[in-house]
Amino acid sequence: MKPATRMSADQRSAHLRLVSDRADASGIKLSGVSKTYRTRDGDVPSLRPLDFHIRDGEFFVVVGPSGCGKSTLLKMISGLLPPSTGDILVEGERVTQPHGNVGIVFQNALLLPWRTILGNVLLPIDMKRLPRGKYLPRAKELLKLVGLEGFEKKLPWQLSGGMQQRASICRALVHDPKIMLMDEPFGALDAMTRERMNVELMRIQRETRKTVLLITHSIPEAVFLADRVLVMTERPGAIAAIYDVPLPRPRSLETMADPLFTELVQRIRKHFFTQGALD
Ligand SMILES: Nc1ncnc2c1ncn2[C@@H]1O[C@H](COP(=O)(O)OP(=O)(O)OP(=O)(O)O)[C@@H](O)[C@H]1O
Ligand SMILES: [Mg+2]
Repeated sequence: MKPATRMSADQRSAHLRLVSDRADASGIKLSGVSKTYRTRDGDVPSLRPLDFHIRDGEFFVVVGPSGCGKSTLLKMISGLLPPSTGDILVEGERVTQPHGNVGIVFQNALLLPWRTILGNVLLPIDMKRLPRGKYLPRAKELLKLVGLEGFEKKLPWQLSGGMQQRASICRALVHDPKIMLMDEPFGALDAMTRERMNVELMRIQRETRKTVLLITHSIPEAVFLADRVLVMTERPGAIAAIYDVPLPRPRSLETMADPLFTELVQRIRKHFFTQGALD
């Protein structure tokens, strides 16, 4: 007689289905997600139906021309904006409202003007009613990391735009969310700080296995950071291509001298030859 532990063919295929459903449920999954803004002047189609899956622990970068719907996409995934059609699943749950285990960096810093820099960084902690004392060292460590040590007690208007944006990155990281949604987080930074932040973000992502969706205008930044790069067309945005970036990790600034890096940057840039410069 066969051992009772052996699975029948039916059981085996049911089991495989379950395993693949589970693998599918993690990360971020979009099916037929589109957006048309309804305005008084008429409809503004912003995104054509999109289908893609950001895997658990993946560093996924989106590049595309201005106005193609990148921020719209991020707002929908974060639950702040309902899609016109389609479904968004985050960790297997359908997104219908803002969800907890996500850190968001918006295109503008959006700091609360009446809170100090430290108070702004601790906002997610206060909103979740977590103990401030436990998160204070992390908040200060993050501020130091982004070069804002000594600015904890300042108010946002006392900082430059780039400094405010760095504070908003700390705010997104302070509660150690599993998923990071970042809309041009380094756009307002000088080139050197930007490179430093790139390397730091990659280190954090690798160490904590976060799933990251990052939007950028810079093709070299996209290739440097990403496991995969999604290239969007002009508005209404659609997927022009998705590229794997098989550059070894950990990556350092020397990675940019790798011929594969240059080749990928050039290949992605070709998408925009007809659409004008991107970065
Ligand atoms: N609240 C809104 N109401 C109406 N139209 C909107 C609204 N927000 C965005 N749009 C339109 O949707 C399109 C996509 O906007 P979105 O901000 O997503 O672009 P983007 O790709 O992030 O651009 P950028 O690279 O300049 O940040 C734009 O054409 C914009 O005019
Ligand atoms: Mg935008």
